[in-house]
Amino acid sequence: MEGVTGQEVAEQNSKPKIAALIPAAGSGTRLGRGPKAFVEVGGLSLLARSVACLRPYVDEVLVALPAGLFLPDGVQVRAVEGGDTRQASVLALLRATDADVVLIHDAARPFLPARVIREVADAAWDVGAATAALPVADTLVQAKENTDWGTLTPREGLWAVQTPQGFRRASLLAAHESANSEGHAATDDAGLIARLGQRVALIPGDARLFKVTTPGDLALAEAVAAVWDLTAVSGE
Ligand code: CTP
Ligand code: MG
Repeated sequence: MEGVTGQEVAEQNSKPKIAALIPAAGSGTRLGRGPKAFVEVGGLSLLARSVACLRPYVDEVLVALPAGLFLPDGVQVRAVEGGDTRQASVLALLRATDADVVLIHDAARPFLPARVIREVADAAWDVGAATAALPVADTLVQAKENTDWGTLTPREGLWAVQTPQGFRRASLLAAHESANSEGHAATDDAGLIARLGQRVALIPGDARLFKVTTPGDLALAEAVAAVWDLTAVSGE
C-alpha cells in the first residue's frame, strides 16, 4: 500500500457514482423516419427503451438530444443539446456529469441485457475502460471492385464492437479532449482510449444489442420487442 493515500483507499473501497450517458442526437438518415431516438418499436421509443434498461443500474441518466427537440413522452431524465457528430454529443454529456464511472450507450440499441450492463460497469471501474463486443461469427471477405469476392480475412480474434461502453469518466474526458485538439474523429469511445495505448476490456455482448440502423433492422426490433420483458429489468 506504499504511496497510496488514505483518500485513495477510501475511493477504491467506496461505491463509484455511475452515470448512463445516452447520445441520442443523430438524425437517423439511413432509417429515414426522423431522429431515430424518437422512433417507436412495440409502442415505445428507442430512447425510452434504452433508459428503462439502464436506469436500475446507475445513479443518473443523461441524454443528448438534437437541438430544438424535447424528450419523448414518459422519459424523465436530464437532457443536454447534442453536437454535429456522435463524438461531439458524447463530449457534451461528459461535461455535464461528475460521476466516477460513465456508461456510454447508443439510443439506437434499445435492448440491453442486465448481465452486459453489470459486467461493463464492473470492468470499467476495475480496468478503466470496457466495451460490449461479440466475436465475429460470419466469414469475412474484402471485396474486389466493391462487387466481387476479393481476399478472405481470417475472423479468428475479431470482435464486433457494441455499446454499452464503460469508462472512468476522467480518462474518457481526457481522451476526448486530446482527440478534439488533434482533430481525430472516431465512431466510438473505446477507440479513443485504445488510441492512447490504454487498456480496454472486451465484455461478451449480446445479439440483441444490435443497432437499429436501416429499415430492415426495425422489423427485427419489432420482433425482439414482442418478447422483451420490460418489467424484468433485464430481458434475461
Ligand atoms: N448520435 C448523436 N449525435 C450525433 C450523431 C449521432 O448523439 N450528431 C447518436 C445517435 O442518436 C445514435 C448513436 O449516436 O443513438 C449512433 O449513431 P447512428 O446509429 O449513426 O445514428 P444516426 O446518426 O441518427 O443515424 P444516421 O447515421 O443514419 O443518420
Ligand atoms: Mg450517424
